[in-house]
Amino acid sequence: MTASLPVTVLGGTGYVAGELLRLISDHPRLHLGAAVSTSQAGKPVAASFGHLAGIYPDAVFVSVDDAVNRVAETADGVVVSAAPHGASADLVDKLLNAAEAAGTGLTIVDASADFRYADSGSFEAVYKQPHEAPNRLDSFRCAVPEHLDEIDTPHAAQPGCFATTMLLGIVPLLAMNLCEPKFFVSAITGSTGAGRTPRDTTHHPFRQSNLFAYKPLAHRHQPEVVTLARNATNKEPVLHFVPQSGPFARGIHATIFAPAKPGVGATEIEAALTDYYSKSVFVSVAAVPPKLKDIVGTNNAVLSVAADDESIVIFSVLDNLVKGAAGGAIQWVNRLRGWPDAEGLRVAPAGWI
Ligand SMILES: NC(=O)c1ccc[n+]([C@@H]2O[C@H](COP(=O)([O-])OP(=O)(O)OC[C@H]3O[C@@H](n4cnc5c(N)ncnc54)[C@H](OP(=O)(O)O)[C@@H]3O)[C@@H](O)[C@H]2O)c1
Repeated sequence: MTASLPVTVLGGTGYVAGELLRLISDHPRLHLGAAVSTSQAGKPVAASFGHLAGIYPDAVFVSVDDAVNRVAETADGVVVSAAPHGASADLVDKLLNAAEAAGTGLTIVDASADFRYADSGSFEAVYKQPHEAPNRLDSFRCAVPEHLDEIDTPHAAQPGCFATTMLLGIVPLLAMNLCEPKFFVSAITGSTGAGRTPRDTTHHPFRQSNLFAYKPLAHRHQPEVVTLARNATNKEPVLHFVPQSGPFARGIHATIFAPAKPGVGATEIEAALTDYYSKSVFVSVAAVPPKLKDIVGTNNAVLSVAADDESIVIFSVLDNLVKGAAGGAIQWVNRLRGWPDAEGLRVAPAGWI
């Protein structure tokens, strides 16, 4: 086995960064090189992530400048960005410039939105801000790892959490012509989906025992799903998406409806999905509708199928912070480095989390 590689984690005190630190601590080929914080440099990692105090008792956050110097001084390493979109591309560009100038190796996976589109115009149309590193876009490919057999770029981008949940159902349906290419999705996310900064709609008294839709038919993951589904299948889906906020901390539960095709019922679709994901360690197809507690805390995703004469329904569940962000990103690191997808990612579900 090759020597363990240091990982630089961007977005230091955020929720996804916390999950990256947790997953890296159990990875046999990776170790924490630097947790980069713009607000807590020099402060203990354990002060932001109490649950990781026993794992990283002495680690302190480092500044962006420190991280740039370390990347230039380290022969080979990995960066996973969990910085906000907009900020991520600029940081990634700085680190790549430092590695290129020093002649050191660097593999980057971005969990933000900055490298999900192949061109800056598409990013700017959705995010209403200039792309900070358009010259780097062609060195990243964005896909759900299960939907791309071979990656032809040195770096990768992880699709968003809602997008991953939807794409796991939509891509095989489209690829295998199992329904009309028109999808209606209602998906409920936990409060960690909104990140660490408190907001009115994530405040506990508002969120607990509550359920509400937001940005109906206008969420920015809609064009992302259409683009990534098109990239994966060469087909053109129509998508209508209503996101909702649920009274739980982690997980996404998506219900995907599509018009049925004559003669293609639940039995055929379940068999086709099972076959499509037969090589995946993380994606499975269940006989009954999956529950969030089947998957929270893990990199697993579970699908199930229902159908009648006119419509088919796919249920899709995953953990937004793991399969939808940090775990999916580590899966990409494994893939880019030529390691098995599941390296360091086989976390047994807790069930009653
Ligand atoms: N939450 C999810 O379920 C989820 C799922 C998929 C993808 N994502 C993406 O993953 C990224 C992180 O999400 P999150 O939920 O962890 O967000 P978060 O909790 O808000 O954390 C983001 C962190 O980034 C750092 N940061 C803030 N402004 C910055 C800037 N200008 N430059 C560099 N760093 C800055 C902050 O840490 P410091 O103060 O320590 O620098 C902040 O805590 C985002 O791009 C998000 O879209 C999130």
